[in-house]
Amino acid sequence: MLFAGALWGLCLASTASAVTVYGQIPFGQTSAASGTATGDVSAATATSLSAAYDETLLIPPTPPQDQALNFTLNLAAANTSVNGLSIMQHGSFYGFSIEMSVVTQLMGKNASHLQVPFLNLMGLLQQRSGGVNIRIGGNTQDFAVYVDEIAGGHATAKEKSDLKNPTQTPAVLYSKELFYIASNISTLVNVKWYFGIPFNDTNWRLQIAEYSQSILGENLLGLQGGNEPDYYLSHGHRAEPYGPFDYFGEFSQLIEEIRKNPNIPVKNMLIGPSLASGPWTPEQMWETNYIEAFKDSLVAITMEHYPSNNCFVQFGVGSFVDPQKTFPNFLSHQAALDLVEPYRHTSNLAREAGKPFIMFETNSATCGGLPGISDSFGAALWALDYGFTMAATNFSHALLHVGGQNVYYNSTFNQWTVGAVFYSTLIVAETFGKSNVSQIVDTSNNGLFTPSYAIYDNGTLSKVALFNFMDDPTGAHDITGTITVAAGQVPAEVHVKYFAATSVSVKTNLTWAGQTLGNKFKVDGRLKGELEIVKIACDQGANLCRVPVKAPGFALVFLTDPTATAAGEDIVTFQTSAFTKTANTATVDPSVLATSNGQSAKERSKLGSTSAGSASGAQGMRALLPGLSVLLAMVGGAGVVMLAGIR
Ligand SMILES: *[C@@H]1O[C@H](CO)[C@@H](O)[C@H](O)[C@H]1NC(C)=O
Ligand SMILES: *[C@@H]1O[C@H](CO)[C@@H](O)[C@H](O)[C@H]1NC(C)=O
Ligand SMILES: *[C@@H]1O[C@H](CO)[C@@H](O)[C@H](O)[C@H]1NC(C)=O
Ligand SMILES: *[C@@H]1O[C@H](CO)[C@@H](O)[C@H](O)[C@H]1NC(C)=O
Ligand SMILES: *[C@@H]1O[C@H](CO)[C@@H](O)[C@H](O)[C@H]1NC(C)=O
Ligand SMILES: *[C@@H]1O[C@H](CO)[C@@H](O)[C@H](O)[C@H]1NC(C)=O
Ligand SMILES: *[C@@H]1O[C@H](CO)[C@@H](O)[C@H](O)[C@H]1NC(C)=O
Ligand SMILES: *[C@@H]1O[C@H](CO)[C@@H](O)[C@H](O)[C@H]1NC(C)=O
Ligand SMILES: *[C@@H]1O[C@H](CO)[C@@H](O)[C@H](O)[C@H]1NC(C)=O
Ligand SMILES: *[C@@H]1O[C@H](CO)[C@@H](O)[C@H](O)[C@H]1NC(C)=O
Repeated sequence: MLFAGALWGLCLASTASAVTVYGQIPFGQTSAASGTATGDVSAATATSLSAAYDETLLIPPTPPQDQALNFTLNLAAANTSVNGLSIMQHGSFYGFSIEMSVVTQLMGKNASHLQVPFLNLMGLLQQRSGGVNIRIGGNTQDFAVYVDEIAGGHATAKEKSDLKNPTQTPAVLYSKELFYIASNISTLVNVKWYFGIPFNDTNWRLQIAEYSQSILGENLLGLQGGNEPDYYLSHGHRAEPYGPFDYFGEFSQLIEEIRKNPNIPVKNMLIGPSLASGPWTPEQMWETNYIEAFKDSLVAITMEHYPSNNCFVQFGVGSFVDPQKTFPNFLSHQAALDLVEPYRHTSNLAREAGKPFIMFETNSATCGGLPGISDSFGAALWALDYGFTMAATNFSHALLHVGGQNVYYNSTFNQWTVGAVFYSTLIVAETFGKSNVSQIVDTSNNGLFTPSYAIYDNGTLSKVALFNFMDDPTGAHDITGTITVAAGQVPAEVHVKYFAATSVSVKTNLTWAGQTLGNKFKVDGRLKGELEIVKIACDQGANLCRVPVKAPGFALVFLTDPTATAAGEDIVTFQTSAFTKTANTATVDPSVLATSNGQSAKERSKLGSTSAGSASGAQGMRALLPGLSVLLAMVGGAGVVMLAGIR
């Protein structure tokens, strides 16, 4: 993205009062020393640097006066009579894109010190969707350099600043440990991976391809060839002339290099072109015949896009985006419609070519996110609506970017913060589930503040999604969606899970079906509180179910009892309790990992912790639910600070 950047998917932060935050210098600023915030800053200063620390509460937009509050969805019982139904979707629709430079903060310092909150969060998704897809890469991948070893056994480290990189991302050094981290995570939770091949020049450095294939095997989904190539010229990574045909030529060179390389046995897992809605339109790229020419080498067609940015505030670049004025743009279905519009044609081309179409990197705003917006309940509703709209437009996946580079953490502080949009990924995972035969269609018929969707599973109407983007604590803008089933019959009752908070602007007390991950700094990656599923009786005589949704709010309406299917078997939970202040990492013993297949609860019950303070850690191991066992480990001052949002 222009000026690169991101917004948190997972936003991890620390209660530290002293956190070192290094700023980034975007394109246009050349001095390595002129970062916005280089050096130690207090948490108060950090507040001004990243929405991750920001406490801004925006004023919710005034709800419209003329909005119809009640509407009826006449839905077909079977998928055979629905126009515009999507391709088959997966619960893993939403995944994450994680900047190389922040992998260790987020996932663990090395393969034997994995971050337990991270594992838990992935476990929550796996429980709902069967698995999670994660891309490791971003702007940092293009300049990445392999080294045999990094001092202290680290997986990544930063080299000197690279002045050619627009985000002033220092070249990232990585060792094989990076792939071992990924691989060891995959033994615990069903995470599959994308990596990216450095593309800053055509003196190909192919170790990422070699080691990711040899170490990750089937857990590797694909290898990106070029990241936002439409910005290479303006970011100073290529000399004029550099257009779609030049990138096309380089991509074919890469294919040839891979063909010749015996250490890259799988030749056909490339990903591209990953344009960033910069100077090249997708159509200009397709004029090169990219898809047809490379279809035998490609596993997916990708694009990257963000709707907004905070680059002016962060770096004095571009023009000021006023969060208060911008907030309403996120609180309407129009946001999602506008975001997919440039890609409708591409989505069809990908489908015709038999390739998945992936939004490879996205989130609400680049350059650190917009204060007051990016971590609000409103942003979570936006991300949810955006995800559904992408799915309805036949995107196969979308990866929410977790950025943040040059992040330093003070390991005596603990606990994570999860960005509001993490809930959106949970809800999308639950909506599409594990069947792989879920389809979605946009059924919005009541204006832009109240979009709705129908979800068919294995051919049958199974769920309805209802949004209310309006904000009105008086209840005067609560809506009622009435569901009728054409050529069928509504059930006697529906089961409703609500995504709730008191306002679109709040960042705390978000709940999904009554449960919360916890507020800022309180997150260990597990849901807290009682599961609340609201049963609403339907009028079978009139063939309708009335489902109220608060302003603001979201309802996922299940036509069959969602608790009826046994979900227990693959709940993956990693115990994380702050038992000791001395231990500062959650530790996974690699010998334990070696024997764990990440699937069997029985196996897992044997696992233990070897980290410091493991005596008290061991007390933390207990069954959480009947038939489920818990892994390891404890987090003392699990020192993770992750300034999500910056990259
Ligand atoms: C909307 O539907 C609810 C529930 O059926 C009803 O109580 C309310 O009066 C309706 N409001 C309007 C404006 O029709
Ligand atoms: C590409 O990146 C590598 C590693 O950071 C660096 O050594 C090389 O000089 C870069 N190439 C160009 C043309 O900048
Ligand atoms: C992984 O990191 C931990 C904590 O810093 C360290 O004790 C351990 O030696 C590292 N492992 C390797 C293999 O370097
Ligand atoms: C886990 O990581 C260690 C290195 O710390 C590596 O030796 C081992 O092979 C990894 N396990 C898997 C399954 O990748
Ligand atoms: C999505 O794909 C289906 C075919 O599976 C097609 O019928 C539908 O029109 C496509 N939707 C869009 C928005 O292109
Ligand atoms: C980390 O936090 C502790 C506890 O407040 C403080 O004493 C120490 O100076 C901090 N270290 C750094 C590097 O900020
Ligand atoms: C769904 O797809 C995933 C990924 O391809 C696969 O692992 C899983 O077994 C599939 N599930 C079903 C029910 O087919
Ligand atoms: C879909 O329905 C068919 C027919 O009822 C059944 O045989 C099949 O197992 C179902 N598939 C899934 C993934 O539920
Ligand atoms: C309806 O769902 C069934 C089962 O998933 C699938 O085989 C069929 O292709 C779907 N039909 C349409 C029109 O999407
Ligand atoms: C969040 O919930 C807690 C406990 O119910 C309550 O004390 C607190 O005031 C709530 N905070 C906000 C901002 O609603």
